[in-house]
Amino acid sequence: MTDTQREQKQNHPYKAFFYPMRLALLSAGENFMPLAWWTPVSKNPFRFLLAMDRENHTLGLLRTLGEGALSFLPWEEREWVVRAGYLSGRRVDKGKRLGVALRPARRLAHTWVPEKALAVYELKVTEWPTDGDHAPFLGDVVHVEGSREAKERPILFLGFRDFATLGERWRFRP
Ligand SMILES: Cc1cc2nc3c(=O)[nH]c(=O)nc-3n(C[C@H](O)[C@H](O)[C@H](O)COP(=O)(O)O)c2cc1C
Repeated sequence: MTDTQREQKQNHPYKAFFYPMRLALLSAGENFMPLAWWTPVSKNPFRFLLAMDRENHTLGLLRTLGEGALSFLPWEEREWVVRAGYLSGRRVDKGKRLGVALRPARRLAHTWVPEKALAVYELKVTEWPTDGDHAPFLGDVVHVEGSREAKERPILFLGFRDFATLGERWRFRP
């Protein structure tokens, strides 16, 4: 660590008080990984922002393929979704290792998505060059499919190795 990095860390210590974040699965080519740091950033054009750790194999795949798919799995599928975050596509074929059935994306040339996904957003991605340990990618949506069921039993990431799904709900009536 350089002196500047050490100073930055002391002045801005990272604290994960912002969790929970909804856990998505990001596919690129035949590889996939859980992704908690994502958000929609525009409706028109429809666009997501993804934060990719520079150590991940998926970073190179997003750069070379220029595409990826963000999908949502139900709470019942959490075990393999999370386990995919403890394996690297650099060393293993995660689909085979975890026994996950994949199908080709509809509008992307190289990317495969889990058959069990309840919603899938197919993206053309562009890196937003900046510093930081995570690389931001903008993902323009080129195809969407899904069902309303996708929001019923989400996988929520609480930080570390902890997860939850929805408990109470409430409809606001203005
Ligand atoms: C619950 C959870 C959430 C994660 N969220 C992110 C994330 O938002 N961004 C990221 O770059 N890595 C995230 N990761 C880490 C990657 O999933 C992990 O490093 C994975 O092994 C990368 O696989 P790859 O080397 O095949 O790309 C997360 C891991 C877990 C378990």
